[in-house]
Amino acid sequence: MSQSDALLFLKALKEDGMEHLYIPDKSVQTVALPEKNKSGKANVANKPETSIEKDSVRTEMLKLHKQVMSCTQCPILVKNCTKVVFGSGNIHAKIVFVGEAPGADEDIQGLPFVGRAGQLLTKIIEAMGFKRDEVFICNVLKCRPPNNRPPAPDEVVNCRPYLKRQLELIKPKVVVALGNHAVHALLQTEQGISSLRGTFQEYEGIPVMCTYHPAYLLRSPGEKRKVWDDMKKVMKRLEEAPE
Ligand code: URA
Repeated sequence: MSQSDALLFLKALKEDGMEHLYIPDKSVQTVALPEKNKSGKANVANKPETSIEKDSVRTEMLKLHKQVMSCTQCPILVKNCTKVVFGSGNIHAKIVFVGEAPGADEDIQGLPFVGRAGQLLTKIIEAMGFKRDEVFICNVLKCRPPNNRPPAPDEVVNCRPYLKRQLELIKPKVVVALGNHAVHALLQTEQGISSLRGTFQEYEGIPVMCTYHPAYLLRSPGEKRKVWDDMKKVMKRLEEAPE
């Protein structure tokens, strides 16, 4: 997306009530810099350790990718889907967005959130000051349910370990759970999104912001302001998180 497109998105969001846009002076730092020691010299000892860690995250993520791509645990989903949608973005991201399941567009492209709801999610991410490829985006289910029906409980049970492993490897500072299904799968609660929206919950020690799904925002644009309030809390949490 060009810079002028991004500005147009920001303008559209402002017109939709998101007037307190956060425009950071630098984009998220995706490469760890060596810390300085007391003498002011760069502490080079951190550098190889960090890059080895990054290499091993990449290796493990590739293994997981292979496993997910060849998964056959949900015969109905495997039979009906076109492409498995593993997730996309930065595997060292500080923030991970988790949706429900791929829809028709995602199923064709093999990428998460590329349809209309995805375009709105991209606007939200950019309004937060990030590029889409600086964050990680994935779903509870990696295969599209037929006719976009909600994920069945056994499908969530089968697929949840993949999401768990993705989060274990990425180790984000914050997860954003988009909508009821993401909230239920991550938090294993029956509580609805309306009562949890705007609150931080916890998944395996990671703060989880519960918010509305962008598809819901397409149906109820008046609720966009609430999601923007939630994203402001996320940005504040990221700013406060230790490196
Ligand atoms: N809705 C989702 O929950 N995920 C997608 O990837 C697309 C639409």
